[in-house]
Amino acid sequence: MADKLVAGNWKMHGSLAANAALLGGLASAGELGVSCAVCVPYPYLAQARQCLEAASIVLGAQDVSEFAAGAYTGEVSGAMLAEFGCRYAIVGHSERRALFGEDDATVGRKAAAALAAELVPIVCVGETLAERDAGATLAVIRRQLDAVAAVLGGAALARVVLAYEPVWAIGTGRSATPVQVGEVHGAIRAWLGERCAQAAAVPILYGGSVKPDNAAELFAVKDVDGGLVGGASLVAEDFLAICRAAA
Ligand code: G3H
Repeated sequence: MADKLVAGNWKMHGSLAANAALLGGLASAGELGVSCAVCVPYPYLAQARQCLEAASIVLGAQDVSEFAAGAYTGEVSGAMLAEFGCRYAIVGHSERRALFGEDDATVGRKAAAALAAELVPIVCVGETLAERDAGATLAVIRRQLDAVAAVLGGAALARVVLAYEPVWAIGTGRSATPVQVGEVHGAIRAWLGERCAQAAAVPILYGGSVKPDNAAELFAVKDVDGGLVGGASLVAEDFLAICRAAA
């Protein structure tokens, strides 16, 4: 397995002034010994690209259109993101699923659109608390993953990043426990193994209240290949501490 990957998801936060301070802090960090990305709001991609030009931190977007081009008001294509220097595009974040009506099939098509533009999709899956309490966690995740595999096919899975994000752990300060994380990541690895010859090389990130004080413990869990970090990615020293915990 290559270096771990830590991706920050800024969500809908930022301003030119606040970003300048945050990106400046990230850019001055030097070599982190880990692969790092920040997924910033679309309008700030150019600013982030410029500030991180000399840094080893790469860029990502938080979504991508399932369409390549055309009369789709408000959409942003994978080619546009690639042109602005993005390497990654998050797809299927639970906030997109819950608040913007994205279903499993749409997430699959978005993953395919990202790959077509030579972006790496970070495909998010995860259960709600009600689903976990009902004992449906692994079934939900399998359903979400199957929908992506149905669009991509098995071989293309080698070109994606998967992110397990239990919905109940996002932004709550309540991370999943290492045992819970290990169970789901192990199941995802097994699912990959049934479909893809490079299953061991597909990064599986954990996301949900990753902080400097729990990052090392979470990243030490088998089959955890890094993190998708929300709130803590908005504070340079916290994000860098999480990156270093993955090194
Ligand atoms: O994409 C990131 C996740 O939603 C995690 O967010 O670290 O604020 O819990 P969080």
